Amino acid sequence: MIAGYAVPDFVSEFWHYYIAAFTVLGILFSLFLIKSQTTTKLAEGEQAELMVHTWDGDLQELNNPLPRWWMFMFYGLVFFAIGYLVLYPGMGKFAGTLGWTSFQEWKDDKDAVDAEFDKVMGPYKGQDIMTVAADPKAKEMGQNLFMTYCSQCHGSSAQGGKGFPNLTDAQWLFGGTPEDIKASIAGGRIAEMPAMGDAVGGEQGAKEVANYVLSLGGKPHDATLAAAGQAKYAACAGCHGENGKGMAAASFPDLTDDAWQHGGSESAIAQSIIKGRKGGMPAQSKVSGGLLDDSKIHLLSAYVWGLGGGKQPAAPAPAEAMAAPAEAVAAPAAN
Ligand code: HEC
Ligand code: HEC
Repeated sequence: MIAGYAVPDFVSEFWHYYIAAFTVLGILFSLFLIKSQTTTKLAEGEQAELMVHTWDGDLQELNNPLPRWWMFMFYGLVFFAIGYLVLYPGMGKFAGTLGWTSFQEWKDDKDAVDAEFDKVMGPYKGQDIMTVAADPKAKEMGQNLFMTYCSQCHGSSAQGGKGFPNLTDAQWLFGGTPEDIKASIAGGRIAEMPAMGDAVGGEQGAKEVANYVLSLGGKPHDATLAAAGQAKYAACAGCHGENGKGMAAASFPDLTDDAWQHGGSESAIAQSIIKGRKGGMPAQSKVSGGLLDDSKIHLLSAYVWGLGGGKQPAAPAPAEAMAAPAEAVAAPAAN
């Protein structure tokens, strides 16, 4: 039992007595009420007291005593309440003789569910993410987890939305190998672009650079504005590259593809430039303050990897190295 959860947190002794006294008085009052209402008994042949009300011409109200079963039900309820208060917490801070706590009950339930999950999870734990991704049952579990923990941001189809990346395409800001995806989920990610409005000369400059960015991707643009924006794009090249292709390794997005996190129209690009952009993928792993243990993250990584954009691991597995081109294998190890 965890200290602090065992007894209700009363701020002072006063509240303990106050609540206990109210509970006891409530019970005594109930008993008194039942007794006072049930002691009148009709003698043989006696007519119950006639109340003064009469409705609808001849409908009269008689004051009959309560039926016995009804009365016993009330007594039963009062004794049930007393028994309950002895066994369970309820009388102020008295913890009850059974030592039951809602925290312990919640914890027991949770442990049982976790144990059940671990059993189902067992076979997948030892498998690599790509193998797990190919398993239909694991995919179903991964999808359920995704609906619970991820869909509010990435959408139920995982295709993202404004400000939230699409997880089903092959464009990754933080890498698409199994390890990259797992790291994104477990530790969270923040890619930050500073506000560049001043660097490009305000609204007009942003519009020009936006058109230059569109031209880099071969998309419809205003050629005059783009020409004016070309020189100003120098401020961006350090992160997004001369050709706008970004640097996936450093989480600087490619500006020439169709995968936009913040929108790919001229005005959306101009807004990205003026305001800057900052993503915030919250860490999911328990060790980083999230809610998920390693096995759930493993399943989720496999689910996301299998959505369509997953990339092969960077270091080839030994079997793949064997199948590498002949000259690579034949080359003498020079080092
Ligand atoms: C210090 C590095 C840095 C510089 C300089 C920089 N950016 Fe960025 N930019 C980023 C990062 C990181 C992101 C991703 C932000 C996120 O994930 O929310 C980004 C995002 C963007 C986006 C949104 C992409 C999308 O998918 O919606 C656009 C457009 C953009 N940058 C254009 C520019 C332009 C044009 C400039 C020059 C004026 C520029 N950036 C300068 C780092 C930079
Ligand atoms: C509060 C919103 C939010 C939640 C919840 C969330 N994400 Fe994200 N996620 C983001 C944002 C925003 C980014 C982009 C971060 C950036 O640009 O800096 C991101 C990025 C990612 C990436 C990296 C994408 C890339 O292009 O490299 C992966 C993978 C990912 N999320 C998976 C998940 C999974 C799986 C879950 C559920 C366990 C989840 N996310 C829950 C907001 C969220």
